[in-house]
Amino acid sequence: MKKLYIETYGCQMNVADTEVVFALLAPHGYERTEDMSEADVIMANTCSVRDNAEQRIHGRIEQFYLQKKARPEVLVGILGCMAERMKEELLESGKVDIVAGPDAYRSLPVLLQNAAPGQPQINVQLSREETYAEIVPVRLDRNGVSAFISIMRGCNNVCSYCVVPYTRGAERSRDWHTIVREACDCGSRGYKEITLLGQNVDSYIYDGCNFAGLLKMVAEACPGLRVRFSTSNPQDISDEVLEVMASHANICHHIHLPVQSGSDRILEKMRRRYTRAWYLDRVTAIRRIMPDCAISTDVIAGFCSETEEDHRDTLSLFEEVQFDAAYMFYYSERPGTLAARKYPDDVPQEVKTRRLEEIIALQNRLSLESNRNDVGKRFAVLVEGPSKRNPEELCGRTGTNKMCVWPDTEHRAGDTVEVEVVDCTQATLLCRLV
Ligand code: SAH
Ligand code: SF4
Ligand code: F3S
Repeated sequence: MKKLYIETYGCQMNVADTEVVFALLAPHGYERTEDMSEADVIMANTCSVRDNAEQRIHGRIEQFYLQKKARPEVLVGILGCMAERMKEELLESGKVDIVAGPDAYRSLPVLLQNAAPGQPQINVQLSREETYAEIVPVRLDRNGVSAFISIMRGCNNVCSYCVVPYTRGAERSRDWHTIVREACDCGSRGYKEITLLGQNVDSYIYDGCNFAGLLKMVAEACPGLRVRFSTSNPQDISDEVLEVMASHANICHHIHLPVQSGSDRILEKMRRRYTRAWYLDRVTAIRRIMPDCAISTDVIAGFCSETEEDHRDTLSLFEEVQFDAAYMFYYSERPGTLAARKYPDDVPQEVKTRRLEEIIALQNRLSLESNRNDVGKRFAVLVEGPSKRNPEELCGRTGTNKMCVWPDTEHRAGDTVEVEVVDCTQATLLCRLV
């Protein structure tokens, strides 16, 4: 057996892909190690979404290179979005033996076989069909409780700031038979929660089955599993999906609905195909159909030409929606995207940083308010394991995706317990067992 070490960066789709890579290489004699110093093959599954994500990988490649210098037989592979975007540049560094894009993982056994010092191998071919549909992933077993299931690949939206359509190619949906089978399989292996993954889950379509249909099928096939999904796109999320969520007790009431900006002018330049009013209407629909549903978002501060007024529109949208949580970034120009070609990256870095800080400060307050609203309420929580701070406490999430901690020495990971919220911080609900 050879030992394979993989570090995973970027989004949940990359985590799911790393699990596929372990599955594809297992029959060729590669077993997983978590110790880089004993690995025969060292890989990074990479992300290109922002410049600092790529800078981190460059740093890791230097670390891998030190391993290679100490043990010249070690092979280093770069997988994922940055492999796709940087292609030959990575090979030319002389520090990398294998470069494989997101649709090329089936060729990894051959690439590994052919790679040798001075003979690097590359496959960055994108595909219109590849979904790794029948591959049974080797779960990274983050806690043995929660599994990711990829339901589609690629993206057809081409938002002007975003590199994903270039690194992951055209959108394609995976055969729902294999999704339902994988979900049931997770259930029989003891998993308690699954998250269906896609860049735009609402545009899932396979053999006439849309996302609402898929969600219903999965929820009904696996009544013992909590079902989550990500990411929803404001332009496409339908009332039909909301009704399915409302009528199935095992589908979590949490929607990740990235808004990106609160200004119509900026949304148009971003090529997000909705307006502020449309977004707010979707939020109203969510709250009408599921009053207890949590909503989280992504936002970008300082996109090309963003004025103070545009920025204030983002702040006011946050106030209006009262998000439960948000992932917040400043704009990072990505080479080759529409925005990089059409619009100057003209908001000075210090202005981007200041606007981002203002959004973060506002969201910190909103998160605290959202948590305070939960004090006194009871929730069913899926236990993830001991809390980080205190071994006498357990942690786990509500259906609304809020982290809870409570004193408990009886239960363990995978149990579902009922807790009452007694206090909170901005990040955590402090609870007691009921
Ligand atoms: N498919 C998802 C997003 C995937 S990328 C969606 O459409 O919502 C995750 C997040 O990264 C995006 O929502 C966006 O907020 C952020 N992002 C993407 N490109 C970026 C860039 N060039 N600069 C800064 N943030 C970016
Ligand atoms: Fe990127 Fe837009 Fe596709 Fe999301 S929907 S992955 S932001 S192009
Ligand atoms: Fe990053 Fe690729 Fe995901 S760019 S966010 S790893 S799709």
